[in-house]
Amino acid sequence: MAVAELSPSYKTQLNASRLSFLSTHVPIRRRFDVRPRPRHKRDGIYCSVTSNQIQAPVSIQTEQPNIKSECYGVFCLTYDLKAEEETKSWRKMVTVAVSGAAGMIANHLLFKLASGEVFGPDQPIALKLLGSERSFQALEGVAMELEDSLYPLLREVSIGIDPYDIFQDAEWALLIGAKPRGPGMERADLLDINGQIFAEQGKALNAVASRNVKVIVVGNPCNTNALICLKNAPNIPAKNFHALTRLDENRAKCQLALKAGVFYDKVSNVTIWGNHSTTQVPDFLNARINGLPVKEVIKDHKWLEEEFTEKVQKRGGVLIKKWGRSSAASTAVSIVDAIKSLITPTPKGDWFSSGVYTNGNPYSIAEDVVFSMPCRSEGDGDYELVKDVKFDDYLLTRLNKTMAELLAEKRCTAHLIGEGIAVCDLPEDTMLPGEM
Ligand code: LMR
Repeated sequence: MAVAELSPSYKTQLNASRLSFLSTHVPIRRRFDVRPRPRHKRDGIYCSVTSNQIQAPVSIQTEQPNIKSECYGVFCLTYDLKAEEETKSWRKMVTVAVSGAAGMIANHLLFKLASGEVFGPDQPIALKLLGSERSFQALEGVAMELEDSLYPLLREVSIGIDPYDIFQDAEWALLIGAKPRGPGMERADLLDINGQIFAEQGKALNAVASRNVKVIVVGNPCNTNALICLKNAPNIPAKNFHALTRLDENRAKCQLALKAGVFYDKVSNVTIWGNHSTTQVPDFLNARINGLPVKEVIKDHKWLEEEFTEKVQKRGGVLIKKWGRSSAASTAVSIVDAIKSLITPTPKGDWFSSGVYTNGNPYSIAEDVVFSMPCRSEGDGDYELVKDVKFDDYLLTRLNKTMAELLAEKRCTAHLIGEGIAVCDLPEDTMLPGEM
């Protein structure tokens, strides 16, 4: 199948925006204007085939197949979900936007989403893939692989580089794309660069996404990026924003299972508290193995306090050393877990961890940050915080440390959340799990 070349006008747009990035580091075009722009071909979303290359499906009796302007390849064909016996009973299409869609994490995730593994076998899905100028061709490659996978549930795919297009009507936004810290880059610089991306994406979500969109921020530093994103999306409930700490929860479960000599389905009630960073607190006080408190099963409390905690905090870094790159497959799996936790009722007595906005939390954690805490869901996309958890001095000391780090990150990004001038007084050991 022929893939359309980038048009000269698109190349001009790339050059123009590259220049504006170099001169300001901020995409000025969007800075103050949150209204969706009228759709225009130069927005960088193209079909892989032109209309005269497509043969209309037999069941559709139109002379000219209807090509949607923002679709990709085979997904440009129109269809009627009520036309066939199999699809008649399917649910209404769910629209899922994914940023960083040409990256490794997305490459594992998209095929799970498209297969029905995440939203179920009767849930047709529209995928809207956001990339960057640099990754646009790779994004076309991803869309081609999705085409070639012949997933029955995957009914629409769009690709583009403008969040105002890609987030249109999104019911889920999985924000994976972020810049990694480069050599010699200060953490404050990283917070600023990625913060600007997430401020922009928050504005775009605010302008064009579904009013009840659920947002999962994966790009690091994900807690503060989620805070910036929600502050820039005042028309979307802050409760709908999550920072992914499910990977940390899964890592903690794995280590506890290993130590106790049980399979990891026997480990429950694991909370990751705080920041997705090396100050995160994997909670072994409230966690359970075979229904019993972990401390009754694992008698080596020194291991729990020292080795276990550090192993979970730094697992991302150890993995980068082995792989030469960040975790991708396990991150994708944990995004799936995070979504499923919100769309299926939480098993009785258990909970899951998510970085959520603190607004009236029962644990005396500072308000107005995104902090990982124990949550339960009825499966309706919403969640409630778990109230009956225990604290001891060990846990409280560490909670205070991760809270101090998040408050410092917040002060450092004050300019991106409408709170004046940024003051960066980050603690010395502020690090992402992947930074050693
Ligand atoms: C991870 O936890 O594996 C990543 O967040 C690591 C990183 O710092 O990119």
